[in-house]
Amino acid sequence: MNAANKTAAAQGALILCFLALAGYFVLNPGGNGVHVQEVPLVDVAFTNRATARMSAAEVIRTEGDASGQDCYACHERDKPPKLKFNPDQSVVNAKEHMDITMGHGSHNRNNNCFNCHNETNLELLQTRDGKELKLVDSAPLCGSCHGPTYRDWEVGIHGRTSGYWKRDAGPFERQICVSCHDPHSPKFRPWKPAPGPHSMRSVAVQADSGHSTTTPHL
Ligand code: HEC
Ligand code: HEC
Ligand code: HEC
Ligand code: HEC
Repeated sequence: MNAANKTAAAQGALILCFLALAGYFVLNPGGNGVHVQEVPLVDVAFTNRATARMSAAEVIRTEGDASGQDCYACHERDKPPKLKFNPDQSVVNAKEHMDITMGHGSHNRNNNCFNCHNETNLELLQTRDGKELKLVDSAPLCGSCHGPTYRDWEVGIHGRTSGYWKRDAGPFERQICVSCHDPHSPKFRPWKPAPGPHSMRSVAVQADSGHSTTTPHL
Protein backbone atom coordinates (compact mmCIF):
# COMPACT_ATOMS: atom_id res chain seq x y z
CA MET A 1 0.00 0.00 0.00
CA ASN A 2 1.37 3.39 -0.90
CA ALA A 3 1.22 6.43 1.36
CA ALA A 4 -1.84 7.96 -0.39
CA ASN A 5 -3.84 4.76 0.00
CA LYS A 6 -2.86 4.49 3.67
CA THR A 7 -4.14 8.04 4.32
CA ALA A 8 -7.41 7.32 2.51
CA ALA A 9 -7.88 4.09 4.52
CA ALA A 10 -7.22 5.91 7.81
CA GLN A 11 -9.66 8.69 6.83
CA GLY A 12 -12.27 6.10 5.86
CA ALA A 13 -11.84 4.31 9.20
CA LEU A 14 -12.16 7.60 11.09
CA ILE A 15 -15.33 8.53 9.19
CA LEU A 16 -16.83 5.13 10.03
CA CYS A 17 -15.88 5.60 13.70
CA PHE A 18 -17.59 9.01 13.85
CA LEU A 19 -20.69 7.72 12.04
CA ALA A 20 -20.88 4.84 14.52
CA LEU A 21 -20.54 7.27 17.43
CA ALA A 22 -23.21 9.56 15.94
CA GLY A 23 -25.52 6.55 15.54
CA TYR A 24 -24.83 5.54 19.14
CA PHE A 25 -25.67 9.01 20.47
CA VAL A 26 -28.84 9.31 18.40
CA LEU A 27 -30.18 5.84 19.14
CA ASN A 28 -28.92 5.85 22.75
CA PRO A 29 -29.11 2.06 23.19
CA GLY A 30 -28.01 2.37 26.85
CA GLY A 31 -31.36 4.05 27.53
CA ASN A 32 -30.28 5.72 30.79
CA GLY A 33 -30.03 9.21 29.36
CA VAL A 34 -31.35 12.33 31.02
CA HIS A 35 -34.71 13.84 30.31
CA VAL A 36 -35.77 17.34 31.07
CA GLN A 37 -38.12 17.75 33.97
CA GLU A 38 -41.43 19.35 33.11
CA VAL A 39 -41.93 22.85 34.46
CA PRO A 40 -44.96 22.48 36.74
CA LEU A 41 -47.67 25.11 36.34
CA VAL A 42 -48.15 27.44 39.30
CA ASP A 43 -51.21 26.61 41.40
CA VAL A 44 -53.89 29.13 40.34
CA ALA A 45 -54.63 29.79 44.02
CA PHE A 46 -51.39 31.79 44.07
CA THR A 47 -52.37 34.01 41.16
CA ASN A 48 -55.86 34.77 42.44
CA ARG A 49 -56.01 38.51 43.09
CA ALA A 50 -59.04 38.39 45.41
CA THR A 51 -58.54 39.80 48.90
CA ALA A 52 -58.41 37.55 51.98
CA ARG A 53 -62.07 38.12 52.82
CA MET A 54 -65.21 39.82 51.56
CA SER A 55 -66.15 43.00 53.37
CA ALA A 56 -69.79 43.87 54.10
CA ALA A 57 -69.54 46.48 51.30
CA GLU A 58 -68.26 43.85 48.85
CA VAL A 59 -71.06 41.43 49.82
CA ILE A 60 -73.60 44.15 49.00
CA ARG A 61 -71.82 45.12 45.78
CA THR A 62 -71.74 41.53 44.52
CA GLU A 63 -75.34 40.94 45.69
CA GLY A 64 -74.30 38.20 48.10
CA ASP A 65 -76.11 37.17 51.29
CA ALA A 66 -76.22 40.36 53.38
CA SER A 67 -78.84 39.08 55.86
CA GLY A 68 -76.27 39.13 58.70
CA GLN A 69 -76.02 42.89 58.28
CA ASP A 70 -79.76 43.38 58.77
CA CYS A 71 -79.53 43.68 62.57
CA TYR A 72 -83.15 44.66 63.10
CA ALA A 73 -84.47 41.59 61.36
CA CYS A 74 -83.75 39.92 64.73
CA HIS A 75 -83.11 42.68 67.27
CA GLU A 76 -85.66 45.09 68.63
CA ARG A 77 -85.07 48.80 68.02
CA ASP A 78 -85.25 50.04 71.61
CA LYS A 79 -83.74 47.00 73.29
CA PRO A 80 -79.94 47.05 73.02
CA PRO A 81 -78.59 43.49 73.38
CA LYS A 82 -77.04 42.79 76.77
CA LEU A 83 -73.45 41.61 76.84
CA LYS A 84 -72.53 38.69 79.05
CA PHE A 85 -68.92 37.93 79.86
CA ASN A 86 -67.04 34.74 80.67
CA PRO A 87 -64.72 34.75 83.69
CA ASP A 88 -61.79 35.47 81.33
CA GLN A 89 -63.58 38.62 80.10
CA SER A 90 -64.42 37.14 76.69
CA VAL A 91 -67.92 37.91 75.40
CA VAL A 92 -70.48 35.12 75.56
CA ASN A 93 -71.51 34.85 71.92
CA ALA A 94 -75.16 34.23 70.99
CA LYS A 95 -75.90 31.09 68.98
CA GLU A 96 -77.08 33.37 66.13
CA HIS A 97 -73.62 34.92 66.02
CA MET A 98 -71.60 31.74 66.04
CA ASP A 99 -70.06 32.75 62.68
CA ILE A 100 -68.22 35.43 64.65
CA THR A 101 -65.07 34.43 66.49
CA MET A 102 -64.08 37.24 68.77
CA GLY A 103 -60.31 37.48 69.17
CA HIS A 104 -59.14 41.05 68.62
CA GLY A 105 -55.73 41.56 70.17
CA SER A 106 -54.08 39.38 72.76
CA HIS A 107 -55.80 38.88 76.14
CA ASN A 108 -59.28 39.66 74.74
CA ARG A 109 -58.32 43.32 74.77
CA ASN A 110 -60.84 44.52 72.23
CA ASN A 111 -63.67 42.02 72.50
CA ASN A 112 -66.50 44.27 73.63
CA CYS A 113 -68.96 44.49 70.75
CA PHE A 114 -69.83 48.08 71.67
CA ASN A 115 -66.24 49.26 71.29
CA CYS A 116 -67.21 49.28 67.64
CA HIS A 117 -70.97 48.74 67.25
CA ASN A 118 -73.41 51.36 68.42
CA GLU A 119 -75.70 49.84 71.06
CA THR A 120 -78.51 52.33 70.44
CA ASN A 121 -78.42 51.86 66.65
CA LEU A 122 -76.88 48.48 65.79
CA GLU A 123 -76.73 49.36 62.10
CA LEU A 124 -74.01 51.90 62.87
CA LEU A 125 -70.42 51.69 64.03
CA GLN A 126 -69.08 54.09 66.64
CA THR A 127 -65.59 55.32 67.30
CA ARG A 128 -64.22 55.97 70.79
CA ASP A 129 -64.55 59.71 70.22
CA GLY A 130 -68.24 59.38 69.37
CA LYS A 131 -68.26 59.46 65.56
CA GLU A 132 -70.94 57.34 63.89
CA LEU A 133 -70.16 55.40 60.72
CA LYS A 134 -72.05 53.07 58.42
CA LEU A 135 -71.13 49.37 58.66
CA VAL A 136 -69.70 49.55 55.13
CA ASP A 137 -67.53 52.56 55.99
CA SER A 138 -65.37 51.00 58.69
CA ALA A 139 -61.82 52.15 57.81
CA PRO A 140 -62.02 55.32 59.96
CA LEU A 141 -63.23 53.13 62.85
CA CYS A 142 -60.07 51.02 62.62
CA GLY A 143 -58.11 54.24 62.23
CA SER A 144 -59.55 55.65 65.46
CA CYS A 145 -57.54 53.07 67.43
CA HIS A 146 -54.77 52.19 64.92
CA GLY A 147 -53.59 55.69 64.07
CA PRO A 148 -50.12 54.93 62.66
CA THR A 149 -51.38 52.00 60.52
CA TYR A 150 -54.26 54.14 59.28
CA ARG A 151 -51.84 56.93 58.34
CA ASP A 152 -49.71 54.37 56.44
CA TRP A 153 -52.82 52.99 54.73
CA GLU A 154 -53.98 56.44 53.65
CA VAL A 155 -50.74 57.01 51.75
CA GLY A 156 -50.66 53.47 50.36
CA ILE A 157 -47.85 51.96 52.46
CA HIS A 158 -50.07 49.51 54.35
CA GLY A 159 -52.69 47.39 52.55
CA ARG A 160 -53.16 47.29 48.81
CA THR A 161 -53.65 49.98 46.19
CA SER A 162 -54.17 49.06 42.56
CA GLY A 163 -54.94 51.00 39.39
CA TYR A 164 -53.00 53.98 38.05
CA TRP A 165 -49.85 55.35 39.71
CA LYS A 166 -50.42 58.56 37.85
CA ARG A 167 -53.63 59.78 39.43
CA ASP A 168 -54.73 61.96 36.52
CA ALA A 169 -54.30 59.06 34.05
CA GLY A 170 -57.06 56.96 35.57
CA PRO A 171 -58.73 55.63 38.70
CA PHE A 172 -57.07 53.73 41.54
CA GLU A 173 -58.59 51.40 44.10
CA ARG A 174 -57.60 51.09 47.75
CA GLN A 175 -58.75 48.00 49.62
CA ILE A 176 -60.35 48.75 52.99
CA CYS A 177 -59.04 47.14 56.20
CA VAL A 178 -61.88 44.62 56.47
CA SER A 179 -61.20 43.28 52.95
CA CYS A 180 -58.14 41.70 54.53
CA HIS A 181 -58.67 41.67 58.30
CA ASP A 182 -61.71 40.11 59.93
CA PRO A 183 -62.72 42.94 62.30
CA HIS A 184 -63.58 40.36 64.95
CA SER A 185 -60.33 38.36 64.63
CA PRO A 186 -57.98 40.61 62.67
CA LYS A 187 -54.78 38.64 63.11
CA PHE A 188 -53.48 37.00 59.95
CA ARG A 189 -53.12 33.23 60.04
CA PRO A 190 -49.84 31.93 58.65
CA TRP A 191 -50.07 31.64 54.89
CA LYS A 192 -48.47 29.13 52.58
CA PRO A 193 -45.94 31.13 50.59
CA ALA A 194 -46.18 31.11 46.81
CA PRO A 195 -43.36 29.28 45.03
CA GLY A 196 -40.35 31.24 43.82
CA PRO A 197 -39.86 31.75 40.09
CA HIS A 198 -38.77 28.69 38.13
CA SER A 199 -35.21 29.06 36.93
CA MET A 200 -36.11 27.50 33.53
CA ARG A 201 -32.79 25.62 33.63
CA SER A 202 -33.26 22.04 32.51
CA VAL A 203 -32.92 19.79 35.50
CA ALA A 204 -31.40 16.33 35.05
CA VAL A 205 -33.59 13.56 36.34
CA GLN A 206 -32.53 9.91 36.55
CA ALA A 207 -34.97 8.11 34.28
CA ASP A 208 -35.44 5.16 36.61
CA SER A 209 -35.62 6.75 40.07
CA GLY A 210 -37.29 10.06 39.26
CA HIS A 211 -34.99 11.83 41.72
CA SER A 212 -33.44 14.96 40.36
CA THR A 213 -29.68 15.21 40.53
CA THR A 214 -29.78 18.90 41.32
CA THR A 215 -32.37 20.72 43.41
CA PRO A 216 -34.88 22.30 41.06
CA HIS A 217 -36.17 25.75 41.95
CA LEU A 218 -39.84 24.96 41.98
C1 HEC B 1 -80.24 36.13 62.71
C2 HEC B 1 -80.65 37.04 63.74
C3 HEC B 1 -79.67 38.13 64.14
C4 HEC B 1 -79.11 39.09 63.33
C5 HEC B 1 -79.28 39.29 61.83
C6 HEC B 1 -78.30 39.90 64.20
N1 HEC B 1 -78.36 39.44 65.49
FE1 HEC B 1 -77.32 40.11 67.08
N2 HEC B 1 -78.10 38.67 68.27
C7 HEC B 1 -79.09 37.79 67.89
C8 HEC B 1 -79.54 37.06 69.07
C9 HEC B 1 -80.66 36.01 69.10
C10 HEC B 1 -78.76 37.50 70.17
C11 HEC B 1 -78.85 37.05 71.64
C12 HEC B 1 -80.04 37.66 72.34
C13 HEC B 1 -79.92 39.10 72.59
O1 HEC B 1 -79.00 39.50 73.31
O2 HEC B 1 -80.75 39.88 72.07
C14 HEC B 1 -77.86 38.50 69.62
C15 HEC B 1 -76.92 39.18 70.38
C16 HEC B 1 -76.19 40.26 69.93
C17 HEC B 1 -75.23 40.99 70.71
C18 HEC B 1 -74.84 40.65 72.14
C19 HEC B 1 -73.55 39.83 72.16
C20 HEC B 1 -73.71 38.43 71.69
O3 HEC B 1 -72.94 37.99 70.82
O4 HEC B 1 -74.59 37.72 72.19
C21 HEC B 1 -74.75 42.00 69.93
C22 HEC B 1 -73.73 43.04 70.31
C23 HEC B 1 -75.41 41.89 68.64
N3 HEC B 1 -76.27 40.82 68.65
C24 HEC B 1 -75.17 42.76 67.60
C25 HEC B 1 -75.71 42.59 66.33
C26 HEC B 1 -75.43 43.49 65.23
C27 HEC B 1 -74.55 44.72 65.32
C28 HEC B 1 -76.11 43.01 64.15
C29 HEC B 1 -76.13 43.58 62.73
C30 HEC B 1 -74.86 43.98 62.15
C31 HEC B 1 -76.80 41.80 64.58
N4 HEC B 1 -76.54 41.60 65.90
C32 HEC B 1 -77.56 41.00 63.75
C33 HEC B 1 -79.59 37.63 66.63
C34 HEC B 1 -79.21 38.35 65.51
C1 HEC C 1 -61.46 50.32 70.23
C2 HEC C 1 -60.13 50.27 69.68
C3 HEC C 1 -59.90 49.39 68.45
C4 HEC C 1 -60.59 49.42 67.26
C5 HEC C 1 -61.81 50.26 66.88
C6 HEC C 1 -59.90 48.50 66.39
N1 HEC C 1 -58.85 47.91 67.02
FE1 HEC C 1 -57.53 46.55 66.26
N2 HEC C 1 -56.64 46.36 68.06
C7 HEC C 1 -56.99 47.08 69.22
C8 HEC C 1 -56.21 46.58 70.33
C9 HEC C 1 -56.28 47.10 71.76
C10 HEC C 1 -55.37 45.56 69.82
C11 HEC C 1 -54.41 44.70 70.59
C12 HEC C 1 -53.06 45.27 70.72
C13 HEC C 1 -52.24 44.31 71.51
O1 HEC C 1 -52.74 43.30 71.99
O2 HEC C 1 -51.04 44.56 71.60
C14 HEC C 1 -55.66 45.46 68.39
C15 HEC C 1 -55.02 44.59 67.52
C16 HEC C 1 -55.22 44.55 66.14
C17 HEC C 1 -54.44 43.79 65.19
C18 HEC C 1 -53.24 42.92 65.48
C19 HEC C 1 -53.65 41.47 65.56
C20 HEC C 1 -54.07 41.05 66.91
O3 HEC C 1 -55.16 40.47 67.04
O4 HEC C 1 -53.30 41.27 67.86
C21 HEC C 1 -54.97 44.02 63.95
C22 HEC C 1 -54.51 43.44 62.65
C23 HEC C 1 -56.09 44.94 64.13
N3 HEC C 1 -56.21 45.25 65.46
C24 HEC C 1 -56.87 45.40 63.10
C25 HEC C 1 -58.00 46.19 63.27
C26 HEC C 1 -58.95 46.50 62.23
C27 HEC C 1 -58.85 46.04 60.81
C28 HEC C 1 -59.91 47.31 62.80
C29 HEC C 1 -61.15 47.87 62.15
C30 HEC C 1 -62.16 46.90 61.73
C31 HEC C 1 -59.56 47.49 64.19
N4 HEC C 1 -58.40 46.79 64.43
C32 HEC C 1 -60.28 48.26 65.08
C33 HEC C 1 -57.92 48.09 69.29
C34 HEC C 1 -58.81 48.42 68.30
C1 HEC D 1 -63.09 46.04 66.44
C2 HEC D 1 -64.42 46.44 66.17
C3 HEC D 1 -65.52 45.42 66.29
C4 HEC D 1 -65.86 44.66 67.39
C5 HEC D 1 -65.19 44.64 68.75
C6 HEC D 1 -67.02 43.89 67.02
N1 HEC D 1 -67.37 44.15 65.70
FE1 HEC D 1 -68.87 43.34 64.65
N2 HEC D 1 -68.26 44.32 62.97
C7 HEC D 1 -67.25 45.26 62.94
C8 HEC D 1 -67.11 45.76 61.58
C9 HEC D 1 -66.12 46.81 61.11
C10 HEC D 1 -68.07 45.07 60.80
C11 HEC D 1 -68.29 45.20 59.30
C12 HEC D 1 -67.39 44.16 58.67
C13 HEC D 1 -67.29 44.12 57.19
O1 HEC D 1 -67.37 45.13 56.50
O2 HEC D 1 -67.09 42.98 56.69
C14 HEC D 1 -68.78 44.19 61.72
C15 HEC D 1 -69.81 43.34 61.34
C16 HEC D 1 -70.64 42.66 62.23
C17 HEC D 1 -71.82 41.94 61.89
C18 HEC D 1 -72.41 41.80 60.48
C19 HEC D 1 -71.48 40.99 59.66
C20 HEC D 1 -72.10 39.85 58.95
O3 HEC D 1 -72.22 39.95 57.74
O4 HEC D 1 -72.44 38.85 59.60
C21 HEC D 1 -72.33 41.41 63.04
C22 HEC D 1 -73.57 40.55 63.20
C23 HEC D 1 -71.45 41.80 64.12
N3 HEC D 1 -70.41 42.56 63.59
C24 HEC D 1 -71.62 41.48 65.44
C25 HEC D 1 -70.68 41.69 66.44
C26 HEC D 1 -70.78 41.14 67.79
C27 HEC D 1 -71.92 40.29 68.30
C28 HEC D 1 -69.66 41.55 68.46
C29 HEC D 1 -69.23 41.20 69.87
C30 HEC D 1 -69.20 39.79 70.19
C31 HEC D 1 -68.88 42.37 67.53
N4 HEC D 1 -69.52 42.42 66.33
C32 HEC D 1 -67.69 43.00 67.84
C33 HEC D 1 -66.48 45.67 63.98
C34 HEC D 1 -66.48 45.09 65.24
C1 HEC E 1 -54.43 44.17 51.39
C2 HEC E 1 -54.63 43.63 52.71
C3 HEC E 1 -54.59 44.55 53.90
C4 HEC E 1 -55.28 45.73 54.10
C5 HEC E 1 -56.20 46.45 53.12
C6 HEC E 1 -54.97 46.17 55.44
N1 HEC E 1 -54.10 45.30 56.04
FE1 HEC E 1 -53.38 45.38 57.94
N2 HEC E 1 -52.17 43.82 57.58
C7 HEC E 1 -52.18 43.05 56.43
C8 HEC E 1 -51.17 42.04 56.53
C9 HEC E 1 -50.86 40.98 55.49
C10 HEC E 1 -50.53 42.23 57.79
C11 HEC E 1 -49.36 41.47 58.34
C12 HEC E 1 -49.77 40.31 59.11
C13 HEC E 1 -48.54 39.60 59.67
O1 HEC E 1 -47.44 40.14 59.59
O2 HEC E 1 -48.74 38.53 60.21
C14 HEC E 1 -51.20 43.35 58.43
C15 HEC E 1 -50.91 43.83 59.70
C16 HEC E 1 -51.68 44.76 60.40
C17 HEC E 1 -51.55 45.12 61.79
C18 HEC E 1 -50.54 44.54 62.73
C19 HEC E 1 -49.39 45.48 62.63
C20 HEC E 1 -48.13 45.00 63.15
O3 HEC E 1 -47.20 45.79 63.01
O4 HEC E 1 -48.05 43.86 63.67
C21 HEC E 1 -52.49 46.07 62.08
C22 HEC E 1 -52.75 46.76 63.43
C23 HEC E 1 -53.23 46.30 60.86
N3 HEC E 1 -52.72 45.49 59.85
C24 HEC E 1 -54.27 47.19 60.74
C25 HEC E 1 -54.84 47.55 59.53
C26 HEC E 1 -55.74 48.68 59.37
C27 HEC E 1 -56.21 49.58 60.49
C28 HEC E 1 -56.07 48.73 58.03
C29 HEC E 1 -56.94 49.75 57.33
C30 HEC E 1 -56.68 51.16 57.61
C31 HEC E 1 -55.39 47.63 57.38
N4 HEC E 1 -54.65 46.96 58.31
C32 HEC E 1 -55.48 47.32 56.02
C33 HEC E 1 -53.03 43.21 55.35
C34 HEC E 1 -53.85 44.29 55.14
